[in-house]
Order: sequence, then structure tokens, then C-alpha cells
Amino acid sequence: MANTLVQQALLSLDIDAARLLRRIEELGRIGRDPATGGISREGFSPADREARTYLMNEARAAGLVPAVDAAGNVVIRPRPVAHGEERQALMMGSHLDTVVNGGRLDGAYGVLAALEVLQTFEESGIEPRYEPVAVAFANEEGALFPQPFWGSMAIAGRLAGLPREPADHHGRPLREALRLAGGDLDALGSAGWPRGSVAAYLELHVEQGPVLERSGNRIGVVDAITGRIVLTLEVTGSAGHSGTTPMEGRRDALTAAARVVLATENLSRDRGLCRVATVGRLEAHPNTPNTIAGAVRMTVDLRDTDVWRAAAAEEALRYALRVIAESTGTRIEVVAETRSDPVSTSRTLQRAIENSADELGLPSEVLSSGAGHDAQMVADIAPIGMIFVPSIGGISHVPEEDTAAVDLVDGARVLLRTVLRTVDHAE
Ligand code: GLV
Ligand code: MN
Ligand code: MN
Repeated sequence: MANTLVQQALLSLDIDAARLLRRIEELGRIGRDPATGGISREGFSPADREARTYLMNEARAAGLVPAVDAAGNVVIRPRPVAHGEERQALMMGSHLDTVVNGGRLDGAYGVLAALEVLQTFEESGIEPRYEPVAVAFANEEGALFPQPFWGSMAIAGRLAGLPREPADHHGRPLREALRLAGGDLDALGSAGWPRGSVAAYLELHVEQGPVLERSGNRIGVVDAITGRIVLTLEVTGSAGHSGTTPMEGRRDALTAAARVVLATENLSRDRGLCRVATVGRLEAHPNTPNTIAGAVRMTVDLRDTDVWRAAAAEEALRYALRVIAESTGTRIEVVAETRSDPVSTSRTLQRAIENSADELGLPSEVLSSGAGHDAQMVADIAPIGMIFVPSIGGISHVPEEDTAAVDLVDGARVLLRTVLRTVDHAE
């Protein structure tokens, strides 16, 4: 009987749409360039810190309890209940950091929706079987510090994959940036959540692609997330005067880097070794018109849903790097690397998302994610589920990234309903 009453109370819960949209609007002002409208909130930058502070203030004002773990993740929990038993967590979240000149929704939407769901529970006075926890994972994008998924890797206990003394693209140590954000590099292990402590993890995100917009479906049920290999390369040549140094015998780091750019594209476009291959960042030194570049730092991003294909593409790239170094007289080193394997989401959570969308009258479809997500790392310790809402024009990682307000609200409603179902039916 009591159980039925709780059930009914749970099913009548709804999020506060205006509050969610207000927070999206407010957070979208942090790190915003007024000229382009783009957001630059690279992980552990001052703008990123401001965003975390904003989130924690909102959480505190809502009567929730935010904390920063050693990896710099913001973990928000309900107020502790006196004599309450330790419950398994039902974790929700995403990231607050952005790419350079990106959009306001990638990551931030999922974090604010998680906060909204948590606050909805808190205000209802209902104590679900699992403890709802909202997490803003640190440095998901790796825009400044080239360790994407930094925070979710730490939560999943993947410390072996993280460098001991990470540095940003300019050589500045993460140790200090992390300390400013409230983390502690020496205590990184304490950020890990043991397997079994999280009953389920749910991430709500904008699709960042065109599938839902084209089909007209309102909700995406993610079945798999792409695998990804990110390499940071340092090309070292020899700087010199562009007018007086003969062409013969030059060791031009930028020429070598240009060949690496083409070889990378070639891996996917011409050789079909992996789904997509991109050089997205390239910085020449000293980067001046009349000096031959002495050094270049650049990134290569390879993606495929098949781990063996991604590995084959990486091997081909590494071979190409040796050939290019040899023929240009340069040295090409891989100075940082991050790997995320492709993962499948939980069938149970897929069904829960689908049924929740159905109940709300929202047509849904199953699709895969070509973007990486923190869920991929959390999959090491818990069953994961991901919900997508349509992206206008199918674009993301640009200032124009957007989603209709009605979709943002409905996506959060699906998240809430899925959490409610999962409270009863977690794997
Ligand atoms: C993460 O945002 C990615 O690049 O897929
Ligand atoms: Mn992104
Ligand atoms: Mn994202």
C-alpha cells in the first residue's frame, strides 16, 4: 500500500522547466565571446572554474550538497538523511567544459538536467531506493589539457591511463590548475567509485548530429558510443631565416606537420581504415611569417565503433609518422594519448528510456553516438544509458549549436522518468 502511494507520488513528479531554461541561459553566459557568441570554457580554465562555482551555488541554494573530488569533478548529492542507510547511487551527469569557441549545450545541458532531476527529488521529499547523484565531470573535451575524459576516467578508476604529471598544450602543469579547481593530483585515487557503488548511470546530451532532426523523432536512445584515439604530436625541426636558409637541407616542422594532416585524412577518406580521422589542433613555433617553423604541436583524433579498426588506423598513422619524419629530417613524437573504447549501453536502460519517451508522447529512435561521452568511462563501473535530443542543423562544437527549448525540457522529462523507472528496475 505504502509502496503504491510512493509509486503514484513518483509518477506525478515533474521538473521545473523555467528553472532549467534559466540555468541553461545563465551558464551559457560564462566564457561567452560577445563577438562570435561562442563559448570557450576549456577544462580547468578560469571560465571553467566560474562555471563550476555557478553550478555549486545553484546546488547549495537548492538545499543540495556539492563537493569537488580529487580529480576536480563536481559531485552533487542530496542532503544526508539522519540515520539513513548507505544507498547505491543513481548517477546522472555530463561535463561543463567546452571546446574553444563551442556551443552552450554540449555537456552543460546534461549537467543542468541532472541537477534539475536531483532537485525535483529533493523537493518532493521522496527518498528513492537509490541515491540520485549529479556529476559534472572535469575536462571531458581536453581542449586545453590534452586528457579528454579526465574526470570520468578518475571516477572509473582508470588511473593507469592518465599521465603522472599532465601538462597543458603550453606546458603548464595540471597540478596547479587542478588545485585551483579544488582537486588534488596526489589524491587522485580517492576520486574512484568502486564497481557496484553505482546502480546505473544516465547521461542526457544534445545529439550533435542530424539524425533526429531528419527523422522528426524527438528522443534518441543511444545504443553505442564510438571509440576514439587522441594523440598529441610534437614535431621538431630546425628554425631558421626564411630568406637565407637554402631549401636544400631544411628541417621544416610545419612542412612535416602538413604531411601529417594529409596522412591523417587519408587514413579514413582514401584508405577506409577508420570511420573518421581529424587533425583539429595545430600550433607552429615561432609562428611568424619569415622564420621556418622549428616545432609544431598538433593533435590527431581517430574514431571508429570497431576497436580493431581504430587500432589498425593508429598503426598505419604511426608508420606514416616514421616515413614523414625520415623524409623531412624532423623528429615526430607522440607526447600524450587517450583511448576510449567503443561501448554499448544497457538494454534495460534503453528500454526504460524508450518507455519513458512513449509515456510522454515523444517519438523516439535508437541511434549510435559519433561523439565521445563521459558515459564511456563510467561504463567500466556501472550500466549506462544515454538520451539524445535533436540538434538544430545537426551541428555542434561551434557557436551555432542549438536545440529548441521544448526539446530541452522534454529531454529532461525523459531523464526524470527514466530515473524513476530505474529506481524500480535497475540491472
Ligand atoms: C567529445 O566532445 C567529442 O569530441 O566527441
Ligand atoms: Mn563535445
Ligand atoms: Mn559532450
